[in-house]
Amino acid sequence: MIELKHVSKSYAQGILALRDVTLSIGDGELVFLAGPSGAGKSTLLRLIAGLEKPTSGTVVMNGQRIDQLTASSLPYLRRKLGLILQGQGLLNDRSVLANVMLPMIVVGESVQEAEIRAYAALERLNMSDKAHTSPLALSGGEQQRVAIARAIVNRPQIILADEPTAYLDRDNAVIVVNALRAFQRSGVTCIISSHDEQFLDQANRVIYLNKGEVVDSWTSGQPATEMQPIHA
Ligand SMILES: Nc1ncnc2c1ncn2[C@@H]1O[C@H](COP(=O)(O)OP(=O)(O)O)[C@@H](O)[C@H]1O
Ligand SMILES: [Mg+2]
Repeated sequence: MIELKHVSKSYAQGILALRDVTLSIGDGELVFLAGPSGAGKSTLLRLIAGLEKPTSGTVVMNGQRIDQLTASSLPYLRRKLGLILQGQGLLNDRSVLANVMLPMIVVGESVQEAEIRAYAALERLNMSDKAHTSPLALSGGEQQRVAIARAIVNRPQIILADEPTAYLDRDNAVIVVNALRAFQRSGVTCIISSHDEQFLDQANRVIYLNKGEVVDSWTSGQPATEMQPIHA
């Protein structure tokens, strides 16, 4: 369970990125954060990830105050989270496999275990045949699938994905959304931001932001049937 209460976030120059946001997200939900560019979607995801602190208000995840986390408890939070954030691209100086192993190495897993799990994660995204290639040799859609594999390798309870379908053609976007839905069906909470409204009916719930405020929120219960790529 993730709960935000009266969360505001202001940046320098008086920019109010979020204003008085109160919401809660239950375990196992697939939630889309929608709204135009500048609405505050990325800021909201960074606050939930503990990457930034709110100016006021509280962020609680499974009873833990994320807004009060100390540097020493951040790695523990990280293990529960799979992050697919903008500007956190793949490292081009190492293989796809090494990229996916990295989050496990960082938390002190053995190389052997990291490799086994990284392969399994790549397999789930149909990318294991590219394990030993450079990210530079992949298409945008393939790179995004590797980024998802990297996010799930630690078996997170919660996946936070910021515009995971941006810059992808529709077929690749469908593959990415379907992969995230598959994780949600296996019990993982997924919070996905998108300014692209074609996927909203895939969510259990849509939270619509505008100018830093939640202006609408609706529940669609069970998502519609899985979308099919056009050129499958
Ligand atoms: N690090 C930052 N410093 C200053 N302003 C920021 C920063 N991050 C975001 N903002 C501003 O906060 C507002 C919300 O941004 P953002 O959360 O990125 O929106 P979205 O992801 O919905 O496009 C925008 O006005 C943006 O310019
Ligand atoms: Mg954004």
